[in-house]
Amino acid sequence: MKGIILAGGTGSRLYPITRVVSKQLLPVYDKPMIYFPLTNLMLSGIRDIQIITTKEHQQAFQTLLGNGHQWGINISWCVQDDPNGIAEAFILSEDFIGDDHCTLALGDNILFGNGLVGLLQSVMKPKSGATVFAYRVKDPENYGVVSFDEKGIGIDIEEKPQHPKSNYALIGLYCYDNSVVKIARDIKPTLNNEKHITDINNHYLKQGNLHVQRLGRGYAWLDAGTVESLHNAAAFVRSVESRQGIKIACPEEISWRMGYITSKDLNALAKNLMSSGYGQYLQEILLENNKKYDIVN
Ligand code: G1P
Repeated sequence: MKGIILAGGTGSRLYPITRVVSKQLLPVYDKPMIYFPLTNLMLSGIRDIQIITTKEHQQAFQTLLGNGHQWGINISWCVQDDPNGIAEAFILSEDFIGDDHCTLALGDNILFGNGLVGLLQSVMKPKSGATVFAYRVKDPENYGVVSFDEKGIGIDIEEKPQHPKSNYALIGLYCYDNSVVKIARDIKPTLNNEKHITDINNHYLKQGNLHVQRLGRGYAWLDAGTVESLHNAAAFVRSVESRQGIKIACPEEISWRMGYITSKDLNALAKNLMSSGYGQYLQEILLENNKKYDIVN
């Protein structure tokens, strides 16, 4: 299974903050936004990840994340030149995907909750068809919206409908078999001349090959695309982290707990970060040395 993170776009809903900085590099409390989708892929067991950025911002992402080897993963890079839609990701990453299945994570989505790791690991096992995740929101008109029949089976997906048929939004985490590349090529650009992820999902749905996994109350799904939602996401992360003394979406910790890096590696990473509480946290978890206890994200 390959992982793709789409971290392009102009971030215009956050202007002027994103005039010179990519949205997905902005801080969500104590770490860059892209750490959230990245760690969810890592927790799913995905270690080959391609990150798609704008040309303008790619260097900054590379300075932050490099080739991923420091965290026991492989990161490769790709540019999306024009805002041609989310579905273009599969065409841009065709060589990277090769014959594999792939999971796409949107770079501004934050997903957290008890049991998430087990759920992701079970969903991301390669199988034919697609899996998407639905989450109840107050403002479904701002998202892709899925409606269900009386048996709870997804029957229809609409992108940002004026009159949503349900309150269930599709979150920015999509798991597909290899046929997604061909489907992405075949769908036609529609609204704003973009290839929409909703059209890919509807394609799988019509074939009877789309599994819609509902996420219940125990999960938090936040997007961070507006000033208000970015602030709310930071406040959420701060509340959980300061109450529990843990970190959400900490790639160093996750790679260590997943066994991608050794304790010696983690210690070296911590030493480079010792002037912040982040580095001190990494040393503390090493001292607790209860590696298997709790993979938290
Ligand atoms: C995109 C998708 C939408 C999905 C959302 C999740 O919208 O088009 O279907 O619900 O991501 O964040 P965008 O945020 O690009 O407007």
